[in-house]
Amino acid sequence: MTKTIGILTSGGDCAGLNAAIRAVALRAHHGYGWKTIGISHGTLGLLHRPVAAEPLDPGRLDAVLARQGGTFLGTTNRGNPFAFPMPDGTLKDRSPEMVEGLRELHLDGLIGVGGDGSLEILRRLLAGTNLPFIGIPKTIDNDVGQTERAVGYSTAVAIAAEALDRLQPTGASHERVMVLEVMGRDAGHIAIAAAIAGGADIVLIPEIRWRLDHVVKRIATLRQAGRTSALVVVAEAAGDSHEEGERGDASVGEWLAHRLMTATGAEARATVLGHVQRGAQPTAEDRLLAAAFGVKAVDLLAAGKADRMVGWWNRTVIDVPLEKVVGRCRTVDPDGALIRTARALGICLGDAA
Ligand code: F6P
Repeated sequence: MTKTIGILTSGGDCAGLNAAIRAVALRAHHGYGWKTIGISHGTLGLLHRPVAAEPLDPGRLDAVLARQGGTFLGTTNRGNPFAFPMPDGTLKDRSPEMVEGLRELHLDGLIGVGGDGSLEILRRLLAGTNLPFIGIPKTIDNDVGQTERAVGYSTAVAIAAEALDRLQPTGASHERVMVLEVMGRDAGHIAIAAAIAGGADIVLIPEIRWRLDHVVKRIATLRQAGRTSALVVVAEAAGDSHEEGERGDASVGEWLAHRLMTATGAEARATVLGHVQRGAQPTAEDRLLAAAFGVKAVDLLAAGKADRMVGWWNRTVIDVPLEKVVGRCRTVDPDGALIRTARALGICLGDAA
């Protein structure tokens, strides 16, 4: 019997989502003769009547799609079904409407591409139904538990490293300290990887307690050694627990550049990379990961599995129970390989000069 599965992308977009959608629909069609329905705008599409969804015709899903950033289905990181923001400012539980929307689609399974927050919401939403659900991890932050990689991270790191490549010559020309603030709501994965790849002198992440005076001293040491410019990477979350003094509305990167200028006498400039890290053409690595995850997710549904997430561990595609993933942010291991590599290269992490 032909089955029909649904797919939606939820949470902040990132590069590689289209490749994941394509992989799911192609595997479902070629592997099992199943139909795939794409639900629009994450869970928001389930509130529309009829539900905002479209059949994904495999003939339409050529490789061009895998090269494109964003998600052609649309997504949202607003609109928690259980506390949905209403126009009058109140919060309403709209999960029953969304479950009803799912029923209208007559699905035999659902695949959700999301970060830990979205996967948790989707898991909760599906708990009251008997619809099998499989999650695919995506987020530039790379902080989903039980997987070494999430779709979108590789591209974000490539963009951040490229930004450092561009900041270095202008910083050197003007003898400036160039501060690059990168994304990462709760974790420093992008920052540490970009700092190593992009040749930064200093990197500050939320997982390692840093002090401004150590950073100032390191810049002084670099100058004494004849270096006239420096590259500093700071994760957006690095300031939240370790900042010294009032930051006001300034981002941590802007705040840091200002403080370094005052403390070192060097000119400093901040670049807040922001959403540039999310909107690019996916790297080959993200396309590969998205393809492997999409195929595995469909295979899990075909094997009668549910309530699981696909993941990447030791260069293997695995699957893990979703309950082990939700509510657990995977932060940078302060004793892990990347931190040890950064230290070995002489990169200052702000915990010592
Ligand atoms: O979780 C992905 C992410 O890009 C974070 O790195 C960042 O803090 C946040 O989303 C930004 O969210 P928004 O797109 O709502 O500004």
